[in-house]
Amino acid sequence: MNKRIVTLAITMSLGAWAWNLAAQQRDRPPGGTRGGGADPALFDAVTLPKDDAEKNILAVLSDMDRTQRRGNMTVPEQDGRILRLLTEAVGAQHVVEIGTSVGYSGTWFCLGLRRTGGKLTTYEIDAGRAAQARANFKRAGVEQLVTLVEGDAHQEVVKLDGTIDLLFLDADKEGYLDYLQKLLPKLRPGGLVVAHNMNTRQADPAFCKAITSDPNLETVFLNLQTSGISVSVKKR
Ligand SMILES: C[S@@+](CC[C@H](N)C(=O)[O-])C[C@H]1O[C@@H](n2cnc3c(N)ncnc32)[C@H](O)[C@@H]1O
Repeated sequence: MNKRIVTLAITMSLGAWAWNLAAQQRDRPPGGTRGGGADPALFDAVTLPKDDAEKNILAVLSDMDRTQRRGNMTVPEQDGRILRLLTEAVGAQHVVEIGTSVGYSGTWFCLGLRRTGGKLTTYEIDAGRAAQARANFKRAGVEQLVTLVEGDAHQEVVKLDGTIDLLFLDADKEGYLDYLQKLLPKLRPGGLVVAHNMNTRQADPAFCKAITSDPNLETVFLNLQTSGISVSVKKR
């Protein structure tokens, strides 16, 4: 082969190799670790039980999700996990829930409250659902953590004593503002107001305005593509 052609081919190969190397260096994130390309399955985190009691509670939650979800409007599992996480994160001693239904989200709260040493007060207007919730709390072994108040929460919450660390609103959507006005004074600084079904279809605009225009609150919205959750912290 002609010596000049061989030299040209070698020069071009070396050039291409050097160019690729430079591109790789340029795209590498600071710190040297290459990111990207993670298997989506790596993001399928599930709750891993830490002890037998937690294993039992998770089994009851899974059964409730399979057999009692329909017609009872319980939160999706992912939202339940967020509620438990928030409970533990703020070290909640007192969680107040408006809208118990059959106790699904309440049982997620109890997973966190077992660790913080706290208690749940939960309100339900429907006697049938309240009875079902009591049975579910019992078989999950968390009934000693729960006070279930049966009746109209709009009237019942004014009788509530003590401070609240986390307030969860998941009952009549048009009632959220009234619950907020009645219970925000009882929320401790650093405490959270968490509201469910905060999407454009279901959320009450007056409530949205109240939690986004009060300088004493810092509000973010999560899971907007699914059920929609607002989380507001009462500033210290
Ligand atoms: C969306 S469900 C609650 C689901 C529950 N948080 C869960 O995820 O397991 C709403 C519940 O609020 C109850 N509810 C509606 N208005 C109420 C009121 N004024 N006082 C108390 N409970 C009420 C309904 O009967 C219903 O069971």
